[in-house]
Amino acid sequence: MNQDELKRAVGEAAVQHILPRLEKDSIIGVGTGSTANCFIDALAQHKHLFEGAVASSEASAQRLRDHGIEVFDLNQVAGFDFYIDGADEINNNLEMIKGGGAALTREKIVAAVAREFICVADESKLVDTMGDFPLPVEVIPMARSYVARELVKLGGDPVYRTGVVTDNGNHILDVHNLRIASPIELESKINQITGVVTNGLFALRPANVLLLGTQDGVKTIS
Ligand code: A5P
Repeated sequence: MNQDELKRAVGEAAVQHILPRLEKDSIIGVGTGSTANCFIDALAQHKHLFEGAVASSEASAQRLRDHGIEVFDLNQVAGFDFYIDGADEINNNLEMIKGGGAALTREKIVAAVAREFICVADESKLVDTMGDFPLPVEVIPMARSYVARELVKLGGDPVYRTGVVTDNGNHILDVHNLRIASPIELESKINQITGVVTNGLFALRPANVLLLGTQDGVKTIS
């Protein structure tokens, strides 16, 4: 199977994972990116079984609506069971780097509300130590240079993702050359820099389940 087929397989597996627990009034948290898109497309066939979704980006909200799935504002819902999203890297503790698609802040917010975070990824995303994928950091635009200097002090090489404005109107710095030995510590440290909205480490709130697409089938890791 090629990478696209693996993504489709985990998208379908995620639907099968949540299907038995869906109820008429269920709301589903939906992530962003090519793997999350596979989940949305597979979910659409079952739209009569649940009430709707909350989305972590305008792009995913549009895709859900295009399938006829109602999209709710997060402030309209008290809580929900599942958040399904991809990752750029994930380790064996189910800690992740996310934000390759610049949606990290909304992803972190929707994940915080969900009772269960189901990560869907092909096997290329599983790593022993995170950091080969540059760590995205969302920053308030006027703080960009200051935050970049502070990130250099932490040992990284931040690069401004030119031309990208997040759904929240902010900028992204991609931090290269980090070897992330202590993800929880680094996530907290970067979030304490003034001007940082959040960073793409999901270690304080890791995934609960990983559905990993491999050549031997989809593996469930929890
Ligand atoms: C979006 O901001 C990201 O966090 C994505 O979830 C992540 O980049 C994975 O994307 P793919 O599924 O496209 O690899």
